[in-house]
Amino acid sequence: MIRLVEVTKTYGTGASALSDVTLSVEKGEFVFLVGPSGSGKTTLLRLLIKDMVPTKGTIFLNDINVTALPSGKTPQLRKQIGVVFQDLKMLMDRTIFENILLPLEMAGVDHNEAARKAKDIARQVGIEAHVEKFPVQLSGGELQRAAIARALVFSPQILLADEPTGNLDNTTSWEIVKLLQDINQMGTTVIMATHNLDVVNSLDKRTIELEKGKIVKDKKKPTDDKKHEKKSDKSEKEDEKGVEK
Ligand SMILES: Nc1ncnc2c1ncn2[C@@H]1O[C@H](COP(=O)(O)OP(=O)(O)OP(=O)(O)O)[C@@H](O)[C@H]1O
Ligand SMILES: [Mg+2]
Repeated sequence: MIRLVEVTKTYGTGASALSDVTLSVEKGEFVFLVGPSGSGKTTLLRLLIKDMVPTKGTIFLNDINVTALPSGKTPQLRKQIGVVFQDLKMLMDRTIFENILLPLEMAGVDHNEAARKAKDIARQVGIEAHVEKFPVQLSGGELQRAAIARALVFSPQILLADEPTGNLDNTTSWEIVKLLQDINQMGTTVIMATHNLDVVNSLDKRTIELEKGKIVKDKKKPTDDKKHEKKSDKSEKEDEKGVEK
């Protein structure tokens, strides 16, 4: 569903952030994106939502060439890819509810429907008790949940989370990862950029490692093979079809 073909990004400053990256992520996957600071994780996520365009190469989302997408269509793309930025980008002078509501209202969704959706999402991520507060009144974990809620308002196919456990203690980090796993279980593809190797090493997930803008490792879920062994012939064939897609 997501495909990068020989993607290179060099910033105007001359900083080379990604070089010749080719990768695919299938519908429903949960992927960790790891690598040292400056290795290109945020750059990759920003390219996916067309926050900027690659210097070279092509990005596809469900066979749509994102790189060639006219800028007028960017809002449609952003509805399909929810994103939680490293710095959260919450509006500090608005309540959590207003923060969650804003993208819906900007998209012209009817106020009552938007309010209902915002409430539902707040409940889903466990922050319904905090919606009338302002961002400064929330803990780091609560704020992260609020940002996840805002990223989910359009029920996107894909959720990108950039270092969502960055400023959190161990217990809270795990709660956030659990929430992202729940979201993934409900069918959303999740890509999580992280430095939290405790989390990455404890979970059996695909892990893509960047170093100086290049993919140096792509560890697929090791249990995939085992699962295949246990399945009947029929479901195995169905799986193979899925992989070919
Ligand atoms: N807006 C920008 N202008 C110029 N250079 C940039 C910009 N953003 C990132 N870079 C450079 O691109 C490279 C990759 O940065 P990026 O933010 O993608 O790394 P990262 O893996 O997300 O790092 P971190 O783990 O610290 O968040 C770095 O060398 C960085 O200095
Ligand atoms: Mg980053």
